[in-house]
Amino acid sequence: MSATRIGLLGYGNVGAAVHRLLDGGAAAIERVTGGPVQVAAALVRDPGRHPAAPGGLLTTDFARLRDDASISVVAEVMGGIEPTRAHVLALLRSGKSVVSANKQLLARHGEELFDAAEEHGVQLRFEASVCAAIPVVKVLRESMIVSGVHRIDGIVNGTTNFILSRMVQTGAAYADALAEAQALGYAEADPTEDVTGADAAAKIAILASIAFHTRVRLEEVEHAGIDRLDLSDVEHAAELGYATKLIASAIQSGSAVVARVHPCLVARDHPLAAVEGAFNAVMLRGESIREVILEGPGAGGEETATAVIGDLLAVIGTRGTGFLQHDGYFRGLDRLPVRELESPFYLRFDVEDEPGVLAQVAQALAERGASVAQVVQRSAGGVHIVILTHRAREGAVRDAAAAVGALGFSRSEPVVLPVLERGA
Ligand SMILES: NC(=O)c1ccc[n+]([C@@H]2O[C@H](COP(=O)([O-])OP(=O)(O)OC[C@H]3O[C@@H](n4cnc5c(N)ncnc54)[C@H](OP(=O)(O)O)[C@@H]3O)[C@@H](O)[C@H]2O)c1
Repeated sequence: MSATRIGLLGYGNVGAAVHRLLDGGAAAIERVTGGPVQVAAALVRDPGRHPAAPGGLLTTDFARLRDDASISVVAEVMGGIEPTRAHVLALLRSGKSVVSANKQLLARHGEELFDAAEEHGVQLRFEASVCAAIPVVKVLRESMIVSGVHRIDGIVNGTTNFILSRMVQTGAAYADALAEAQALGYAEADPTEDVTGADAAAKIAILASIAFHTRVRLEEVEHAGIDRLDLSDVEHAAELGYATKLIASAIQSGSAVVARVHPCLVARDHPLAAVEGAFNAVMLRGESIREVILEGPGAGGEETATAVIGDLLAVIGTRGTGFLQHDGYFRGLDRLPVRELESPFYLRFDVEDEPGVLAQVAQALAERGASVAQVVQRSAGGVHIVILTHRAREGAVRDAAAAVGALGFSRSEPVVLPVLERGA
């Protein structure tokens, strides 16, 4: 099958990552879509800024992409409103599908762009425009059509979530936490869009529009940011048992909708309260689905590129037989032995109350490369020795437990449970 040729508008953080991941994932892409994908051209302002780009790939001439009939799909990863809007319109009108990562463009000019896509029988997809790697657009547009989603609450701006997390963790004032976010590259030199809630407003306008099947315009979204939030409020909230988060909400009640962005107190047992640092999360509520939560990285070149590629492949993969229909999709893979998996472990030994037992248990673990992180001993007829190990190989821990279980002081078979770690 001949290669599907795609174009890129922009070759910056996201654009270059799209190219890299498309090349790195070539085999998987061919399995899924049934054919190869090739980046034919990428539009930039200054090719000299990208010495590592393959020769002949970069161009400053938009017409080279627009007029190349062999390019059927283009990813818009250049940002801004103009000339981006004009370029996207021209591409749609020339019969090319477009994938965009640009929330402001979609939130401000979505109507015009979708009309053009419809008129010319092509697709306009925009997964990367909201929460980067989290596939919330696809879920809302394709998976939840009849699920009656009536409320969305999300942490959709990683910069502000990072700042709020640092204020709580270190007692830093807003300005100091912002400076730290800038130093770490989580906040732009000009953070206005993020800290005033404007970035989150564009994202919730997009999500509300697709969730409720109505056009929610950016100017309708009332927004307040964290730039006026006082550390004392964050601290008082914490004392009262609440996290302070910048929440973007969209609500449908009967035939009325509203979308807004505002700092909120979130009860500690609410899933959004546990979303820390630069992560994003979106909670969808609906009659049939009750609650669905999606969480993950909401920014980053490579993270965003995965969503752009998901959209590109959705356009390409649904042209013919569709995903998973391709014969070569399923491949033979080896199986990973469970005994080789690593995590911390919880162990419980039910033993006779004799001296030296704990030392023998610790020794059995140590001999097999597993070390003890915590020990609790409880009387329960005999004695329960409960051990939490550091990360260890499952096989080693199970062998150690079996060895202890075979010793005379053991009253029953030891209990071995893996500990599920965040970020493992
Ligand atoms: N980075 C993220 O974490 C992230 C997350 C979610 C969404 N996004 C969105 O993804 C898009 C791209 O972001 P990015 O971080 O990759 O930006 P970036 O690093 O600044 O890259 C922008 C690219 O577009 C090109 N470009 C910009 N204006 C142009 C113009 N008028 N004509 C021709 N080329 C132009 C630039 O060319 P030069 O190289 O010559 O300057 C550059 O290659 C934006 O819409 C952004 O909001 C980014």
